[in-house]
Amino acid sequence: MIKREHWGSRIGLILAVAGNAIGLGNFLRFPVQAADNGGGAFMIPYMISLLLLGIPLLWIEWALGRYGGAKGHGTAVAVFDYMWKNPVAKYLGFLGVLIPLIVVVYYTYIESWTLLYSLSSLIDSLPSTPMTDGVENYLKPFENFLVEKIGLNSESSIFLMPPLETYIFFLITLLMNLYILYRGVSAGIEKVAKFAMPAIFIMAIILMVRVFTLTSPDGRNFLDGLGFLWNPDFSALSNPKVWLAAAGQVFFTLSVGFGAILTYASYIKPKDDIALNGLAGASVNEFAEVILGGSIAITASVIFFGIAGTELIASKGAFNLGFMSLPAIFANIPFGQFFSFIWFLLLFFAGITSSIALSQPAIAFLEDELGFSRQKAVFSLGAFLFITAHIPIFIKGALDELDFWVGTFGLVIFALLEAVLFFWIYDSKKAWQELTRDNDIKIPDIFYYIMKYVAPGLLLVILGFWAVEKLPEKLSQSSAGIWIARGFILAVLILGIVLIKIAWSRRNERASA
Ligand code: ALA
Repeated sequence: MIKREHWGSRIGLILAVAGNAIGLGNFLRFPVQAADNGGGAFMIPYMISLLLLGIPLLWIEWALGRYGGAKGHGTAVAVFDYMWKNPVAKYLGFLGVLIPLIVVVYYTYIESWTLLYSLSSLIDSLPSTPMTDGVENYLKPFENFLVEKIGLNSESSIFLMPPLETYIFFLITLLMNLYILYRGVSAGIEKVAKFAMPAIFIMAIILMVRVFTLTSPDGRNFLDGLGFLWNPDFSALSNPKVWLAAAGQVFFTLSVGFGAILTYASYIKPKDDIALNGLAGASVNEFAEVILGGSIAITASVIFFGIAGTELIASKGAFNLGFMSLPAIFANIPFGQFFSFIWFLLLFFAGITSSIALSQPAIAFLEDELGFSRQKAVFSLGAFLFITAHIPIFIKGALDELDFWVGTFGLVIFALLEAVLFFWIYDSKKAWQELTRDNDIKIPDIFYYIMKYVAPGLLLVILGFWAVEKLPEKLSQSSAGIWIARGFILAVLILGIVLIKIAWSRRNERASA
């Protein structure tokens, strides 16, 4: 067996784990989710979901990763197989490879837009419009710019036609990701995190300070923006839509339910701490999300467009606050070009430290289960991502469809599987022992009950709501793009089953030889 890699230092590990979590989710997705769900109304379910779902499930993923790593395995495929002596376990574990892998297929593409926008800001080729009345009129040039860059203006009902430069930026972004992965866990991922994380914080603080000194012609300032997010609205607690959005955001931002934390944790030493490392990564992520992420796009937008305007912008699309409203605001302030440049560069750094994390489970699977060298694993992944990224790049509706099944629904399903497998099938006493051994801080005993009963129970409730609220609508939608996306997910599942069958038959041959 090839010797497994390890993290070089504790600070490197924490930065890499924070880089895994801090991503487009913190700076693009969070402001839109919060604004679209009533600001202060969103924050209470968010905090409760963080405590009852996010943190406990994060610790479970860390424990599964440390357990697998000690046996030479870095994905849920082998970990589930060890914990549940049932032939189906390893196939269920493959979800922890499939989910991050498919997310990477579209995530890397969105990440490449941020690089394109960052350089476009620098050479001053983003639109610039004078302040006019009406949010929609004002944002129109920015909307047109985005539509053109992602090829939404194509005449075809099936195909998107992005310009060549968008495609080239995607290729550059993909190659950068692959190069970091090729360098490996310590010399690649960890090294990049040590540089990118401080850079992200510096850029975010510069932007936050700038936003805090903005005022609108009619006198709104940052306090209006912060008030929108931080004035609690208890009436929203009875609205399931807000709970679903909040729980979904907590999963996405912490990278819980992807399988990617499990893989990162598998590169720690068998007796290393998981409780403090997990909590430290989550704390850095939450600081980046609610303090920094909550103080830039959403606050600037409330100052310039008011609460109603911000809610309108957020309701129209997942990228609107980051890709339209913020550059439109920067276009109207001194040195706006510079702020726009660092805003998109910040997004790019946040994106790349997450996309490499989401790619690593596939690499670990190829290395640990199929005996690939790192070079061969990265090359195979590169070929796969290059070919399949053409689906979200060129097929209308595919990106949203993939994001729904994998980036939203899939996370909850996989997190539920992890919790049930560990605490109900493997054995809750042994699970708790595994979780609480060799840590630098004590995980409070109450988390035993949260992990065993509360979190899986809440996940079932969430899935129930989803089944009632979203699934019928989703399943009734039909277009070529939607079916291509669904077919793609199925094809990856079949590929996984075949690869696992090959890996296990080789294992059995070796065992009987
Ligand atoms: N946790 C990563 C993000 O927030 C996936 O973008």
